[in-house]
Amino acid sequence: MDNKSLIKSALEARKMAYAPYSNFFVGAALEATDGRIFTGCNIENISFGPTNCGERTAFFKAISEGCYDFSKIAVVGGINSGAEKLETFAFPCGVCRQVMLEFCDPLTFKVIVAKSEDDYEEYTLAEIMPHSFSPRNQKLG
Ligand code: THU
Repeated sequence: MDNKSLIKSALEARKMAYAPYSNFFVGAALEATDGRIFTGCNIENISFGPTNCGERTAFFKAISEGCYDFSKIAVVGGINSGAEKLETFAFPCGVCRQVMLEFCDPLTFKVIVAKSEDDYEEYTLAEIMPHSFSPRNQKLG
């Protein structure tokens, strides 16, 4: 899927965000190499700790359906759920980057952060998570 369409899916997913505590609404759209798209939004909790980010919601939906191979993810986020164009790029938090590393090749997996379908930046996972700790460079067990 082209970047524009993936961002559109992330913007749609953002409408489902449950963020009454931060008012920071996040949407994500994760593309699998077989073409499937898994969307996600952030889901907050009164106890704060159980809050789940939009990116991880998308990943966990995919993994829980047996999908393990991914090509890219589009992420959008900002305050005010009704905003037409987002003011800033919402980069994935460190925890989400670590989850991406578990399942994605950092040299080929793309992270797209967008303010709108036409205003976005694209990075490899390695660019936003250098010197990482991942199953690819550790021999465990
Ligand atoms: N959030 C995400 O959904 N993704 C990120 O990568 C950063 C943070 C959410 C968590 C919380 O609901 C809100 O944004 C404010 O931190």
